[in-house]
Amino acid sequence: MKRLGILISGRGSNFEAIADSIAAGELEASIAVVVGNRPEARGLETARQRGFNAVCIPSKGLDREVYDRMLLAELRQHGVELVCLAGFMRLLSATFIREYPNRILNIHPSLLPAFPGLDAQRQALEHGVKITGCTVHFVDEYLDAGPIIIQTPVPVMDGDTVETLSARILREEHRIYSEAIRIVLGGDYRIEGRRVVLG
Ligand code: GAR
Repeated sequence: MKRLGILISGRGSNFEAIADSIAAGELEASIAVVVGNRPEARGLETARQRGFNAVCIPSKGLDREVYDRMLLAELRQHGVELVCLAGFMRLLSATFIREYPNRILNIHPSLLPAFPGLDAQRQALEHGVKITGCTVHFVDEYLDAGPIIIQTPVPVMDGDTVETLSARILREEHRIYSEAIRIVLGGDYRIEGRRVVLG
């Protein structure tokens, strides 16, 4: 059973969706540890309540390399084999990424490369796109940039607010993150340049 390390900064609903898929027998993996970089991250409390190892390593004021070494030590201690960023709002250093080559995933609430960075749903609304969505991709040193594993489109409705659009996207996030993890753990894919080719 592959050991996942889940990194969060806030609510943790994607973490919960992954935990639910595992509990339902839809994803063969175990969550070795949930790490949050903000003490107030609600997902850490949820993780503890659900009986997972939940660790807070506050990142405030720390140099990126220093922080990432602390993070790596925690993940290694729990034998983590695949790192899943689930609303983790920090860039990872090259040092960190080298330790987990093609073993770090991220979920982002837009159809990348559109609307990277913060507030992707607001960016989509303000740009006036009719379709946005969400993306699970491998993480490299750049922001929201690595090879794409799965994307799903989500329509933007005329009456949408950031909240209604985010909620519609989030439902799809919860579905595709587990699917992407299943693909990566299953190993039935290859990375050709920027393309992730399945089967
Ligand atoms: C999700 O919408 C995720 O896609 C987004 O943060 C939210 C976290 O929600 N991530 C990013 O914007 C990363 N650039 P959650 O804490 O409930 O999973």
